[in-house]
Amino acid sequence: MASRRPSSRVRLDYTGCLRATIGRAGLTDRELAQGARAAVAGGKRLRRALDAGRYGFDAVLDDRKALEAARAEGRRLSRLADTLVVDGIGGSALGALALEAALRPRRKRLVILDNVDPEVVSARLASLDPERTAVNVVTKSGSTAETAANMLILLEWMEERLGPRHVKRWCATTDPEKGELLKLAHRLGMPTLPVPPNVGGRFSVLTAVGLLPAAFLGLDVDALMKGARDMRRHCWTAAPERNLGVMGAVVLYLMARRRARNIQVLMPYAGSLVALADWYKQLWAESLGKRLDRRGRVVETGQTPVTALGATDQHSQVQLYMEGPHDKVVTFLEVREFRPDVRIPRLHADLASTGYLGGRTLGELLNAERRGTEIALAAAGRPSFSYLLPRIDAHVVGQLIYLFEFQTALSGELYGIDAFDQPGVEAGKVAAYALMGRAGYEKEAARLRARSRGRRAVI
Ligand code: PA5
Repeated sequence: MASRRPSSRVRLDYTGCLRATIGRAGLTDRELAQGARAAVAGGKRLRRALDAGRYGFDAVLDDRKALEAARAEGRRLSRLADTLVVDGIGGSALGALALEAALRPRRKRLVILDNVDPEVVSARLASLDPERTAVNVVTKSGSTAETAANMLILLEWMEERLGPRHVKRWCATTDPEKGELLKLAHRLGMPTLPVPPNVGGRFSVLTAVGLLPAAFLGLDVDALMKGARDMRRHCWTAAPERNLGVMGAVVLYLMARRRARNIQVLMPYAGSLVALADWYKQLWAESLGKRLDRRGRVVETGQTPVTALGATDQHSQVQLYMEGPHDKVVTFLEVREFRPDVRIPRLHADLASTGYLGGRTLGELLNAERRGTEIALAAAGRPSFSYLLPRIDAHVVGQLIYLFEFQTALSGELYGIDAFDQPGVEAGKVAAYALMGRAGYEKEAARLRARSRGRRAVI
């Protein structure tokens, strides 16, 4: 088992998905064994595809040259600025956001422009000091409309305030061989970093897409990558029944396919992991939500990911999870040691509502809340499982990132679909280009106009 020291490894507890724990909704040993066999076969197919270079999320962990280039660029920009604007959307922004939120840099910050809401963009621009700002425009395709629009706004905003010298405050992260951003960066003399062509946005956080912002923020990039490599070793060498990646994929797959648990609620009991949960949500949804399987048959697969925050959402969504439709599996993230934990003072010890709390810590209370929710769900016959994190640091976050990527890729094999394409996302991009009048999309624009003429239920 790979890890820095025994207590640094993430663990998985799926007791709450077993028949012995939750009754009929739980999985039997036989089902789990069958699932594990299917996962082993799927793992072999995935390995062949990775070795053939079809997908690159695994190999990027060994690309020291790319890591050093991203680190150097991040450090260069951090010497010029204390705020990095990341202009990107989806997989080109969520990873950087997750790293910043989880690892809490002290002196630097990110401002993410991942939408074209004019009010939000104006407010974010108003919060920036151009002399202390750098920009990382991130788009693998080089032409996503939202990213392109915000880039134009930022180019003008910086140019007006700093003159042509502002270009040295930029870096473009994009496909190294093609795309309009590459052309534009060359035209402007802007440095570029590559997104490997065989790595899709949602799998790209451990490429320059996430590593430049991480280096800018001064995060421990070495520990992050080591965590990912340690988890990679575990996922590819541990026996299936002791393997976090394999059992995570198998349990979720069986819950969806055999128990109709078509919603997965990812519920961290740690505010700093909510952005990581959002990153995971994209990874899971975009990878597994597919109309066709690998043989071209209509399958319409996928498990809808939802996020919730413990303990806050115990007082909101958990009522539904406990008593509503039997369509969910809850995935908890529990943190063992907080940084820092907070002691609850021994005040008003004579009152029943406060006496038992004095001298304990908020971390203890939070984890008791999680455990209590898990037990209550089990008692109601509702499945749940937990990732147990020793703490939140770069090594642990690296482990989680690889674990979730592996689990998602392996799930794609179990479903028999291509987890690495995103035809649905592309369809939306094409529609936006057409409606905004981009050259080459005239036929699509005409088709969309014809469809909107049929709107009869606008009241
Ligand atoms: O995961 C994906 O592939 C998508 O979510 C993309 O990251 C997103 O659509 C942005 O694409 P691009 O990086 O080409 O601008």
